[in-house]
Amino acid sequence: MPRLNLLRIVALSLPFVFLHCAFGQAADTAPPPSNQIPPESEPGIPVTDTLTTEKCSECHKSDDKGNLTRISWIRTTPEGWEEAIKRMVRLNGLELNPEEARHIVSYLAANHGLAPEEVAPYRWYLEMRQPESEPIPTPAIRMACASCHPFARPETWHRSATEWKLLVNMHIGYFPVTEYQTFHARPRPDGTGVLPASTAPAPAKEPVDEAVEYLTKNSALHSEAWSNWRAAARDPDLAGRWLIAATAPGKGKYYGVLTISPGAAGGSFKTEASLTRIADGSKTSLAGQSVVYTGYEWRGRAKADSIGEPVRQVMTISEDQSKIEGRWFWGGYQEFGFDVTARRESNDPTVLSTDVSSIKAGSKGVAVKIFGDKFPKTLTPADVDLGSGVHVIKVVAAKPSEADIICDVDAAVASGFRGVAINHRVSPNIFAVYDKIDYIKVSVPSALARLGGASHPKGYVQFEAIAYNRGVDGTPNTADDIILGPVQVKWSMEEFIARFNDDDKEFVGSLSADGLFTPAAEGPNPQRRFSTNNTGDVWIVAKYQDKDMASPLVAKSYLAVTVPIYMKWDEPEVAQ
Ligand code: HEC
Ligand code: HEC
Repeated sequence: MPRLNLLRIVALSLPFVFLHCAFGQAADTAPPPSNQIPPESEPGIPVTDTLTTEKCSECHKSDDKGNLTRISWIRTTPEGWEEAIKRMVRLNGLELNPEEARHIVSYLAANHGLAPEEVAPYRWYLEMRQPESEPIPTPAIRMACASCHPFARPETWHRSATEWKLLVNMHIGYFPVTEYQTFHARPRPDGTGVLPASTAPAPAKEPVDEAVEYLTKNSALHSEAWSNWRAAARDPDLAGRWLIAATAPGKGKYYGVLTISPGAAGGSFKTEASLTRIADGSKTSLAGQSVVYTGYEWRGRAKADSIGEPVRQVMTISEDQSKIEGRWFWGGYQEFGFDVTARRESNDPTVLSTDVSSIKAGSKGVAVKIFGDKFPKTLTPADVDLGSGVHVIKVVAAKPSEADIICDVDAAVASGFRGVAINHRVSPNIFAVYDKIDYIKVSVPSALARLGGASHPKGYVQFEAIAYNRGVDGTPNTADDIILGPVQVKWSMEEFIARFNDDDKEFVGSLSADGLFTPAAEGPNPQRRFSTNNTGDVWIVAKYQDKDMASPLVAKSYLAVTVPIYMKWDEPEVAQ
């Protein structure tokens, strides 16, 4: 019976863990894990840092090659290392001061880290985005490993075959419910829940074994990507002036400057940024610090003059060190943020953005503002190239960071993106040209907001309406459709009818004219029937109409408004 074997291994390898669970406090010293763990068959990654060896080898025994048990057969992100080390402190009796912890996370992230391409599919997880859904190989794996945290959590760890098995034991040791509720439960074939074991046929493989097999194969300890990156990685030299192009849902486009200077410790930086919102010219200034892990993982924290809480910055540095991309975010559920691309400043003119996202074919005399850096003071129409079929008629005004121009667009021109060039330096995909807005979509087709405001933060949702053109194939809703950017719409809420006398619309919260949903307060509401709380589900409706349209374009998003997260299973964070 696989289950009995598993339990035996758990009992052998983690008896102390059961003690922690039973008494809820850390023992003075935990028995060394090295005594009980099965031998490794794969070569480990030796730990060569004195402080790390000194601190960890008290329990994780060293072998003659310098491998420490467990640690030498694991690679993960800085967040992953920080989580594990926090648990060592919280539950297992490790003692570290913050400086030592930072040093060890940095050493392990550099030497037991992930290559950029290994993390690329899971950047959303590190950047704290809320995806619509997560691609997970099978319903059984979804149930076993994505019931409490995203599957991206294990996918951002790479481990030996033995280590993947030990991870299962760690879960059963700390969270015994997992064993029957997820690891050995029976998923419904459509992935929507669990069937009682007595009514479900035994699967060929237990869900947990399916997961471990998948991860052993796809998230192995050793990989070509990592050995190449480890050999080539260097401490990036980022000091200097960087140019930012950014967007924020509901607020549109921003441009600005990020100044990076060396920090007090090696691998750390001081940052100053200034962002200008293109729609109204308002400015946001941020000042902070950052650390770079693994040669490319930027983790920063900044204070912004117009944001009442620290802004976290999770970004990745391109291999040629010319670009830093990622998300700057805040909010009770990290739901607010900028999508940021910073490019190293150049000696030549650089175009960052335009005030318009798209221009209709056949338009004459369209005023466009181009934002960027080092534009020549004497700019002529011949210096500015807006791509095929778009003609610059006049330069109205020019300064180093902004050029105001007038252009005409041919009527019979191919719909699609155009780059903008000043003095032949092209920045691609700056705006789109289209013959017609074919449809609109709400940026998030379904969303989750969380009641709050009394003892928990509110979980807001910012909706945006995005216009689309059908693309070259002439059929809407296909892969070649052209995103024309956010459009101004009329927002409203409609009842999602789920029961008789459904009244959720009156209670769940309110929607602003610019698409921000603010949930109502948590807890029972005496105004509501049976004094229930303010949960519910509604349609968020966007209506768009311009002068060329006979009837409006309509798009909807489904919004569920639920209770706060009372227990956080998942809150990775590494910052300065
Ligand atoms: C006082 C004893 C002790 C010290 C010191 C200690 N650990 Fe651990 N470590 C444990 C125990 C017990 C386990 C198994 C239970 C668990 O995973 O929490 C473990 C497991 C681990 C795991 C495997 C977790 C997983 O994902 O399965 C990692 C990684 C780890 N330790 C890292 C470290 C690092 C890094 C250090 C040094 C900075 C360290 N430990 C220091 C006791 C210790
Ligand atoms: C009952 C909820 C639950 C389920 C189900 C679950 N996890 Fe976890 N997992 C957690 C929690 C909570 C932590 C954080 C533990 C801590 O550090 O305190 C965690 C941590 C992890 C970590 C980080 C390891 C470390 O040392 O910090 C990995 C990797 C992971 N889980 C993978 C998996 C995989 C693979 C599965 C499926 C086989 C799974 N999880 C199923 C709750 C769960």
